Amino acid sequence: MTGDRKAALVTGGAHGIGRAVAGRLAEAGYGVAVVDMDAEAGEKVAGEIGRGSRGDAIFIRADVAIEADVVAAVEAAARRFGGLNLLVNNAGVNCRRPLAELSLDDWQRVIGTNLTGVFLFSKHAAAALKAARGAIVNVASTRALMSEADTEAYAASKGGIVALSHALAVSLGPEVRVNCVSPGWIDVSATRPGGQIPLSAEDHAQHPAGRVGSPEDVADAVLYLAGAGFVTGANLVIDGGMTRKMIYV
Ligand SMILES: NC(=O)c1ccc[n+]([C@@H]2O[C@H](COP(=O)([O-])OP(=O)(O)OC[C@H]3O[C@@H](n4cnc5c(N)ncnc54)[C@H](O)[C@@H]3O)[C@@H](O)[C@H]2O)c1
Repeated sequence: MTGDRKAALVTGGAHGIGRAVAGRLAEAGYGVAVVDMDAEAGEKVAGEIGRGSRGDAIFIRADVAIEADVVAAVEAAARRFGGLNLLVNNAGVNCRRPLAELSLDDWQRVIGTNLTGVFLFSKHAAAALKAARGAIVNVASTRALMSEADTEAYAASKGGIVALSHALAVSLGPEVRVNCVSPGWIDVSATRPGGQIPLSAEDHAQHPAGRVGSPEDVADAVLYLAGAGFVTGANLVIDGGMTRKMIYV
């Protein structure tokens, strides 16, 4: 926000999709606050982004499910960049467990990170975003729309994000636009400790678009929504067409 520079806060920016989003925003000239629980990876990402782009980056350690962390992260980002134009709620965890074995702790951990984290960041960043006439982009999932077995907590958290996004769009407009993206299969293995996992020809071919998605596919959509002045309350599905494909055996 200092001068012409816009500022963004990206949760879960140390790995995977969040890392690609942070990098793409920095390339576009944003000052980026990379927020994550993983301080070692987050510091590294912020350093790389800060060196290699037109933008600038800092790392802020926070657990998105802890309100005091969220308040401190928003304050630190706004102080560093002189305001906040964009909030990307991306941090998330998965949990695949049969219903009978899904504990209340499992449920609350997934809902706490994936859904409560979006609520807390949106609430505490709202004033700064309103002042900047900014935007929020939330990362949901096609699992908000369809399911495999044993994914209740994750699916519920992502369905909650889609609903929370349109509620926020109505409450925070016209100053703040709020949208979400719903990625399908995005291969983030290259950014994980074990390195790139090879994908088969079938993995790619089953998608109407002919390939599995990349973190950059989601980053491009987030950058679009950050600037799409007449789009709010939308859920942009980025899944290579998988949720449009009928599968009958
Ligand atoms: N990869 C996919 O195929 C896919 C598909 C649909 C949706 N998504 C969603 O995209 C988002 C990013 O997923 P990813 O595949 O890049 O995952 P990832 O595990 O590679 O990265 C998630 C990041 O979030 C951070 N994080 C987790 N819990 C946190 C917390 N409580 N506080 C702060 N940071 C926390 C992790 O440290 C990590 O850096 C998630 O919300 C996920 O549900 C991913």
